[in-house]
Amino acid sequence: MRTTVGVLLDLKTYLGISKGRTGTERLALYNIAGENHGLRPFYMSLHHLRGKTALGYYYENNAYKLVRRSIPKVTHNRAIALSPFLRKKLKELSKSSIVFNEQNRYDKLHIHQLLYANHSLRTYLPESTKYSREQLKTALKKYSSLFIKPTSSSVGDGIIKISKQEGGGWNLYWMKGKPKLVTYKEAVSFIAKKVGKRNYMIQEAIPLATYNGQPYDLRISVQRGGSGQWQVTGMIGKVAALGRHVTNVAKGGKVKRVEELFDSSGFYSPLIKHELQQVSLSIAQYIGIKLPQMADIGLDVGVDAYGNIKLIEVNGRDQRYTFKKADLETTFYHTYETPLRYAKFLLNQST
Ligand SMILES: Nc1ncnc2c1ncn2[C@@H]1O[C@H](COP(=O)(O)OP(=O)(O)O)[C@@H](O)[C@H]1O
Ligand SMILES: [Mg+2]
Repeated sequence: MRTTVGVLLDLKTYLGISKGRTGTERLALYNIAGENHGLRPFYMSLHHLRGKTALGYYYENNAYKLVRRSIPKVTHNRAIALSPFLRKKLKELSKSSIVFNEQNRYDKLHIHQLLYANHSLRTYLPESTKYSREQLKTALKKYSSLFIKPTSSSVGDGIIKISKQEGGGWNLYWMKGKPKLVTYKEAVSFIAKKVGKRNYMIQEAIPLATYNGQPYDLRISVQRGGSGQWQVTGMIGKVAALGRHVTNVAKGGKVKRVEELFDSSGFYSPLIKHELQQVSLSIAQYIGIKLPQMADIGLDVGVDAYGNIKLIEVNGRDQRYTFKKADLETTFYHTYETPLRYAKFLLNQST
């Protein structure tokens, strides 16, 4: 008899199960991992909970079966719950189940401050502050290049880059295409207008290493596994599309294996990979202490031309799809298997 593990999905993904359309979420991999580890994934949605029961799906005999059953003891959260209604439902769920990655969206500046408190991690953090018009003016004097970005968005939305030009003025990068040459005053008012009333942060720009002239950074999947310990499950590069200052795949970024990127940058791949793994583990372990419910994160990490490592952001719901896009099928599978192995660890702990 296999033990049931809950997998909490966004409503759209959940409703797509019966049509075989689950977007970037590859449920088949949870099913295979479940079989390999004596677990039975049970797919739930926050909209389909009632008391201590849930209406959800099992995968059995090559088909999904809808059943109502008691909420499993352990649940892996893959849903984003931002509205008050969904947050309330999630809280209710966590009363009957150990939900890991329960909170998976954090304010970027909050995470920065949390990590900054650890002296040994500071060297990996680009300087960051909360956006205000005054802070922007200070930052424009202090740095020759900086990013102004929303503290809560994702997929590269709303991100502005500004860089000082040798001949005077600033190059402003917004959306896509060629940067606009602006004066200091124009820069300040353009940025203030784009920010509006939203929460933004200012971050010194990391002079990212380039591939064919385009900046690249890395997505590093760090997860807790079968022993409850953090591990680096995979690492993949993202190269910015032409005319873009962000590497996000959603903004045309191209995935590339890290070895190819490192070779082209003249780095010794085994060494820099090892360093990246060590840094990623230190970051994850510290996050794990401060936010114990976290067990599955995707780090955006930058490397400069000298091989210095800098953390760009921490994602609480890694869209593992980049590994699939790069044909790293085994790694892609492991990003699904590892959380299930962690779920098994939690189940054993709780009995
Ligand atoms: N400080 C920075 N220096 C260099 N590039 C950055 C910096 N901040 C963001 N970027 C670029 O913008 C991309 C998106 O920024 P990120 O903070 O990860 O926001 P999002 O949540 O939208 O992905 C990064 O992957 C990177 O390519
Ligand atoms: Mg990102």
